[in-house]
Amino acid sequence: MSDNKTQTQPIPGLPHVKSPGAPQVKTRILNAESVAEIQKKMARYPVRKSAVLPALTVAYRQVGYLNDEIYAELAAITEIPKLQLAEAATFYTMFPKKPRGKHLIMVCDNISCALCGADNLLRYLEQKLEIKVGETTKDNLFTLQIAECLAGCSAAPMMQVNHEYHENLTREKVDALIDGWRKEG
Ligand code: FES
Repeated sequence: MSDNKTQTQPIPGLPHVKSPGAPQVKTRILNAESVAEIQKKMARYPVRKSAVLPALTVAYRQVGYLNDEIYAELAAITEIPKLQLAEAATFYTMFPKKPRGKHLIMVCDNISCALCGADNLLRYLEQKLEIKVGETTKDNLFTLQIAECLAGCSAAPMMQVNHEYHENLTREKVDALIDGWRKEG
């Protein structure tokens, strides 16, 4: 059975997601591309609620964080209750809930990374960036956070910066990365 056929045949007893050609929704924060992408993703699911995480992800990728106003816009686009969107977002720590720097640095401090010097790495980053964990630099370039195991244990210590992994870290590697990002501005 093709996807299209699935979309036109609602599952009995379940709310059916409208097909694309979705209604225009006025948004202040989410841009037209994000709205269209969310509507396209919605059409893949027979049950509206299944699109909660994809919708949150699209919004997060555009804005860089999620908040009450964004949940309201997502609710208007998806017709999923705002509370359900907010509940899912607060469960997942990978969705920041306030503005953050251009580069979100998440240093893993779980067991493998801890044994390979994650704590020293964190202290070094705090010193280099002149911020504490949880803070953002004044130029809004960097936010520093601690992460749970990021499944890169075999290359500890490691950190995730935005969507990329940086592994087997040393002070020299960190210097090169930070200096490179500072040059990019
Ligand atoms: S313990 Fe750090 S990635 Fe697993």
